[in-house]
Amino acid sequence: MAEDLINNKDIYFPSYLGTNDKLITLLNRASQTLCDWFSVADKNGPLPFDESFKCTMPAEDGNSADDLFSEIESLLNNSFNPVHPCSLAHLDPPPLIFSILGDLIAAGLNNNLLAYELSPSATLLEESLCKWFAKKLGFNDFSGGIAASGGTLSNLNALIAARNNSGLGTNPNSVLLVSEDAHSSFVKCIRVMGLDTANLVRIKTDKQGRMDINDLRKSLDKCSIENKKIFAIVATLGTTVRGAIDPIKEISEICKQRNIWLHIDGSIGGIFAITSIPIEGLNNINQANSITINPQKIIGITKTSSLLLVSNMSTLENTFNTGLPYISSKENIINRGEIGIQGSRPAEIIKLWLGLRFLGMNGIENILKSSIKRKDFFIKNISKNKFDIYSGPLHIVSFLPKKLKPKDSDVWTQTKVNELINNNFMLSRPKFKGKYFLRVVMGNYNTKESHIEELLRLLDA
Ligand SMILES: Cc1ncc(COP(=O)(O)O)c(C=O)c1O
Repeated sequence: MAEDLINNKDIYFPSYLGTNDKLITLLNRASQTLCDWFSVADKNGPLPFDESFKCTMPAEDGNSADDLFSEIESLLNNSFNPVHPCSLAHLDPPPLIFSILGDLIAAGLNNNLLAYELSPSATLLEESLCKWFAKKLGFNDFSGGIAASGGTLSNLNALIAARNNSGLGTNPNSVLLVSEDAHSSFVKCIRVMGLDTANLVRIKTDKQGRMDINDLRKSLDKCSIENKKIFAIVATLGTTVRGAIDPIKEISEICKQRNIWLHIDGSIGGIFAITSIPIEGLNNINQANSITINPQKIIGITKTSSLLLVSNMSTLENTFNTGLPYISSKENIINRGEIGIQGSRPAEIIKLWLGLRFLGMNGIENILKSSIKRKDFFIKNISKNKFDIYSGPLHIVSFLPKKLKPKDSDVWTQTKVNELINNNFMLSRPKFKGKYFLRVVMGNYNTKESHIEELLRLLDA
């Protein structure tokens, strides 16, 4: 069968005549291979269980389907497996089933979000879904957004628009204010924007890991004395190490008074704001100019899936519209390649849309609530005598034995990570405030209380 498939040249591309039986056979086989890999996760743990994958490069002649499927299996076996219930290290939850299908459909469509003529339905879908999110967050009719491949790019889209909007496009004295616990993507953004670390002003955090408003005020005064021009302040809605939420209400008031763009990095926590789940500090977010949300990080939309939502779409149009001379335009429809950094890109919106439609609001809330419940269960049961615990209103917890010196934290966390992985528990080891910590991210829907109990037992040992 495989030889037939590969020797027959029409299998290079889907057939546009009659049936696609051969392609269907291959798709079925690919589904089976993938699902077999999911199903053996329990036995094999979240880390690769066979490291013999060889990165073989293309040969003179193409390989047979049998060869390729054996390489696909080898690639899977040498991969991180996010469906394992004890995969608790990162913001990489199991993939939602309808999102997997969405990726398949988007790949088959091979439409291009660069322009309406290359992706008519997906263009309208992205526009509508961004608007839907923007409205759910409390923005008005001028709002909308743009998808991008990840939170870093959504943040970058926002900051470029913010700088352009402030008229500081080429000003070397322009600065961005973020908290000291904000994500490292802002360092990257600053560099990409032709600035350097001196243009990134770090505001201290309080004991809960939130931006300290007094320090923000002091920094604003210092900036004005030093003639630095602020193009945006970033409030983080869910910090990477402990899930803290900056005081958005106070920051938004300061931004309004001083006419500064407020960007909210809601890569981790932003999605909570479309639900009625009570999360402390999750208010006034509609006062922002822009908000990143990154549904790949918690509800399992397959990577990558990130949106930048803006209160006023004209800010994106004014910033990124260069014209696309080789593309025809349609009246009243904006080519998506003209409102963000990326040019050609796939219809990633399909897997977000299908994932959300499959879940409905109840399903979204159920997944998000369950992550908070697991976090609460973990915090309730971890020994407070033994560990210092750093967490916030979201689903992330970092912790460390009390009074551990920075040097000892390195050895302790490394030893513990190894011990845990021998028992199939995958935790991460962030460096934070000069020490290493262990971090659990409770965004894995497959994790049950019994798994958390076992983890706590191992931590206590
Ligand atoms: C708070 C925050 N912002 C931004 C990012 C960057 O997102 P991405 O990795 O999707 O680019 C992360 C990644 O973990 C994050 O935690």
